[in-house]
Amino acid sequence: MHKILVTGGAGYIGSHTVVELINSGFEPIIVDNYSNSNPLVIQNLEKLCNRSITHYEADCNDEKVLSEIFNEHNISGVIHFAAYKAVGESVSEPLKYYENNIGSLITLLKVMNRFDVSTIVFSSSCTVYGQPDQLPVSENAVIRPANSPYGYTKQVSETILQDCVHANPKFRTVLLRYFNPIGAHPSSLIGELPIGIPNNLVPFITQTGAGWRNELTIFGDDYNTSDGTCIRDYIHVIDLAKAHVKAFEWLEKNTDSIGVFNIGTGNGSSVLQTIQAFEKVSGIKLAYKIGNRREGDVEQIWASNDKAVNELNWKAIYSLEDAMDHAWKWQLKLGEKQP
Ligand code: UD1
Repeated sequence: MHKILVTGGAGYIGSHTVVELINSGFEPIIVDNYSNSNPLVIQNLEKLCNRSITHYEADCNDEKVLSEIFNEHNISGVIHFAAYKAVGESVSEPLKYYENNIGSLITLLKVMNRFDVSTIVFSSSCTVYGQPDQLPVSENAVIRPANSPYGYTKQVSETILQDCVHANPKFRTVLLRYFNPIGAHPSSLIGELPIGIPNNLVPFITQTGAGWRNELTIFGDDYNTSDGTCIRDYIHVIDLAKAHVKAFEWLEKNTDSIGVFNIGTGNGSSVLQTIQAFEKVSGIKLAYKIGNRREGDVEQIWASNDKAVNELNWKAIYSLEDAMDHAWKWQLKLGEKQP
């Protein structure tokens, strides 16, 4: 059984990916420092998968501890989720982002080299495209100067991995450029757990629906889109998680050293359409107001996912409404009061 080290495996995308790895016969080894996640996620994962899951509380910047984990397990590949992801925070605390997101990747790659582990699937983002000239955006679109230190860490990380491929003929990587992950596991055992006020749209919607927040502010309705609000490609987190399993299957079947794939549904939805999908599945009229544009937001982006469909043999199954339904069930499970 292939052992896959999953950094950030207790996080939102990481935890859903752990489930899909187990469903596909891989053996995940979780490393998480719980800086933006909760150890209880491990218990819920074990309940969901009906088995114990190997996990370590460790920071990916800690070379010594990482080495001990690689020494203990015969790891055949890595998925590197562990990173900070709040765009606004990255603007006010850039060094925190450079140290954690870039530093941990370098530490991890050094340890992988030492233990002769040469495959890694990396969590990249559609943020590398900025506002693309052409929509849907494909993988060979121009990479634009990043809008935030967060976005820059994703661009630099991609470059670091490409350089490692050039330097070492054995080294192989898949860069998955995620669009906007939303939703939760239909069991409501795992889902998104934002700490404090959510930055992202869907947890803000569900928390407002549940009464944790008074109202949602839509960041601008004067964009050049059909209803004036920004457009994104919202993808169910389980569909996204499955793409990681496909990435390892691709690495097994192909000889290419590097694969770059957009992981999105191929459909754009506006902020208002997303609210409408929530209202439909929940039966709740959402309280919202129109506010100013948010600095750094791109107007519209959605994926061309042809490459992932054709080469990874992957497809998004869930609709926006499915994802909102699962996000809402997860929110209800979290209860009426904010913890
Ligand atoms: C951005 C990045 C994404 C990154 C993510 C990390 C782009 C295109 N996407 O996602 O790559 O991984 O940050 O957090 O750069 N909105 C509101 N009110 C709110 C919250 C959001 O109107 O309270 C709107 C935003 O203006 C945006 C949409 O909802 O139009 C989605 O916002 P969000 O969920 O924060 O994701 P992105 O900013 O698209």
